Amino acid sequence: MSGTCVIGLQWGDEAKGKLVDLLTAQFDMVVRYQGGANAGHTVVIGDQTYKLHHIPSGILNEGVMNLVTPGVVLNPPTLLKEIDSLLERGVNVSSNMIISERAHVVCPWHLAEDRLLNDTPAAGESIGTTLRGIGPCYRDKVGRTYAVRLGDLYRDNFPERVREIVEAKNRLLASLSDDSEVKLDHEEICREFAGYAERLKPFVGDTTTLLLDAAESGKRLLFEGAQGALLDIDHGTFPFVTSSNSSGVGVCAGSGVPPKWINKVIGVAKCYSTRVGGGPFPTELENETGQHIRDKGHEYGTTTGRPRRCGWFDAVAVRYTARLSGVDCLSMMMLDVLSELPEIQVCRAYEIDGVEVNTFPAHVEDLRRAKPILETLPGWQKEITEVRSYDDLPENAKGYLNRISELVGRPVGVVSVGPDRAQTMFPGTILSDMGVQV
Ligand code: IMP
Repeated sequence: MSGTCVIGLQWGDEAKGKLVDLLTAQFDMVVRYQGGANAGHTVVIGDQTYKLHHIPSGILNEGVMNLVTPGVVLNPPTLLKEIDSLLERGVNVSSNMIISERAHVVCPWHLAEDRLLNDTPAAGESIGTTLRGIGPCYRDKVGRTYAVRLGDLYRDNFPERVREIVEAKNRLLASLSDDSEVKLDHEEICREFAGYAERLKPFVGDTTTLLLDAAESGKRLLFEGAQGALLDIDHGTFPFVTSSNSSGVGVCAGSGVPPKWINKVIGVAKCYSTRVGGGPFPTELENETGQHIRDKGHEYGTTTGRPRRCGWFDAVAVRYTARLSGVDCLSMMMLDVLSELPEIQVCRAYEIDGVEVNTFPAHVEDLRRAKPILETLPGWQKEITEVRSYDDLPENAKGYLNRISELVGRPVGVVSVGPDRAQTMFPGTILSDMGVQV
């Protein structure tokens, strides 16, 4: 079997969905293994744009099985809306998607907790979550006492369990707010969840056994990461991170596949950097150039609509996450967004307290003090969205990609110049040498 992973190397929103959709046809299964409705994966096919939150981007390829595995946290109404919207547009979801009964469920109390705690500063600044209940749901998963898994919705004792949890959560919510509106009603929640359970039933199954059977019988598996490695709970810019392992190290834990089956990793990065929410961002551009990148790249959140913070490409950060995720090659996205700039800068190292640093700091306060050491490269100032072959890119665009590759220490195997499947190039034979046909 061959297990290929697509991992975001920055703070999320690297256009992983586009790449997964492109590669899907060569795989038997596409697997989503962490995160939840905080993710927003956009796939553009012709004049159709699909926005997916839980469902793997492989769903748009008939004949590929899509798995949502135990590491994902599910928001049932959002998931059902996604399913309905795909069905309305003629996408076959019914026979090619299975959701793990082990996956945890985001419940109304998680949404309320996220809302009430969002303004509480962590390390002096609000995390600025997506308000999708992700942190509270993962907190209850690890805490166990108040956790709800998808399989629990089908058990006779579910109403009793909800009653107990709601009692405890109402006490917690009352301590966080003096607004009586936040009081939850367990009977109403049970009624609502009975409806979700009924509708989701055809999709629920044991993805762990399915995946292990597939791996052992030589099937080709594609793992689709959500968010980006810098948001990884253990290895990212803690505490300004999400609550799951969003770097390459999360694939096995979230999906239930042993490490020996993972043999190829594609790291996805934008040709610049973006970040949504709080936390340090050494190459951030709070000026006209940053606004230009935001406008040209439509850098507004797929899930929340928030404007994304924009900045230069940070090679210190991406070198770190490419190593952490075991990346074989880079997929460089949104190159076209930089086309109008006369000069482009790239961060090759940091200066912290007067010392040049080439490694990514572990502590958020050290990262806050990091000043980017920037190199300036000439821009190409030519429209490139119609370019279809890597050799036809302007020399300065290729020079920019080569420098990124040198600084990160990985070859560039994919270059994207627009949202459509057709706006993608594959330099040299890097991807095919990895056994991934394009
Ligand atoms: P949460 O995952 O909603 O708890 O948010 C934690 C942090 O991760 C916030 O800074 C979010 O903006 C960020 N985040 C979560 N999901 C995504 C994503 O899919 N793309 C970009 N940022 C994200």
